Amino acid sequence: MLFVARPIAPDLETLSRYLKGCIEQRRFTNGGPLEATLELRLRELLSARHLCLVTNGTVAITLALTALGIRGQVITTPFTFSATTHAIIHAGAEEVFVDVDPVTLTIDPKLIEAAITPETEAIVGVHVYGIPCAVDEISAIAKKHGLAVIYDGAHAFNMTYRGTPIGRFGDATTYSFHATKLFHTAEGGAIEANSSDLAERLRLLRNFGIESEDVITACGTNAKMSEVSAAVGLAVLDLLGAEYDARAKLRSLYSDALKGIPDIRFLEAKEASDAGSYFIIYVPVSKRDELQNQLRQSGILARRYFYPLTSEGAYLGRQHDHRATPIAFEASRSVLALPYHGGVTEQHVALIAEIARRVLG
Ligand SMILES: Cc1ncc(COP(=O)(O)O)c(C=O)c1O
Repeated sequence: MLFVARPIAPDLETLSRYLKGCIEQRRFTNGGPLEATLELRLRELLSARHLCLVTNGTVAITLALTALGIRGQVITTPFTFSATTHAIIHAGAEEVFVDVDPVTLTIDPKLIEAAITPETEAIVGVHVYGIPCAVDEISAIAKKHGLAVIYDGAHAFNMTYRGTPIGRFGDATTYSFHATKLFHTAEGGAIEANSSDLAERLRLLRNFGIESEDVITACGTNAKMSEVSAAVGLAVLDLLGAEYDARAKLRSLYSDALKGIPDIRFLEAKEASDAGSYFIIYVPVSKRDELQNQLRQSGILARRYFYPLTSEGAYLGRQHDHRATPIAFEASRSVLALPYHGGVTEQHVALIAEIARRVLG
């Protein structure tokens, strides 16, 4: 089976060297040296003002909201992985969905203002597939209404928009370092903060709210990255460039092979660097599932990212009408993520194109 993602496998010797240090020092967590080194190296890579490593990308969103004191309404997109919506609810806030832009599939800034009420406290956008949100429009709206802005950057690690590192926009950007992501720490995540106050608050909250040995000042949680995860991250960092280059090559192979097939639309970031996170095609609703099935029968596991909409979850506790977000609804029935990693060969691409031509052509 060819999976949609293939994690970078760290070099065993490099990883062993890091783990040997952990074992010799019996230091596995609680702000160890590997976590500190990884934080520094990532801060340099991302040109981040402040970076706080945590246990995963879901907790990163919840912690960012909590640190900003958000407990009211949060305007967000339903076209994302369930974690974005769940994290808002875990923070004790209320999810308010607006539709996405038909071209970028990111939250549509034109619809945000109409959804603002006296209870609105924040906007959570998602740079879905590494396509940047309309950051300038969102910041103008947030400034006008005094709202916080958090970006879920799980798909946007180390990318730039118009030459600016993506994490510079909004109050905070969160990342996932799950094994399926380009850069990973097996499980892990981070919050990039644009103020020292927020960064300090995040550090406090990720460690139970403990300020000093006998002073606890906030109801924090345990979101500290372990030394084992940090070791994986440091070893993976060495291999990031090669995987990124392989994906860039694959992107052009896919584009050439699929070009001209009727009814395929490519989703691509404009004025932004390639995040190397996904290769997504947009096909007619009537043919998407058939294409996925045909690919599966040939051993290719393309995924319906993202389906269903997060607003369709009956368990959310609040009912949401998907007819209120028709563009997101159609997208969730039209997108297909193709295998996108260094293990995808030219033969795989040719086979995928042949199947796509058969189903769509
Ligand atoms: C858009 C988005 N947000 C958040 C997450 C959650 O990250 P994690 O799995 O690290 O908790 C993911 C995926 O894993 C994601 O795709």
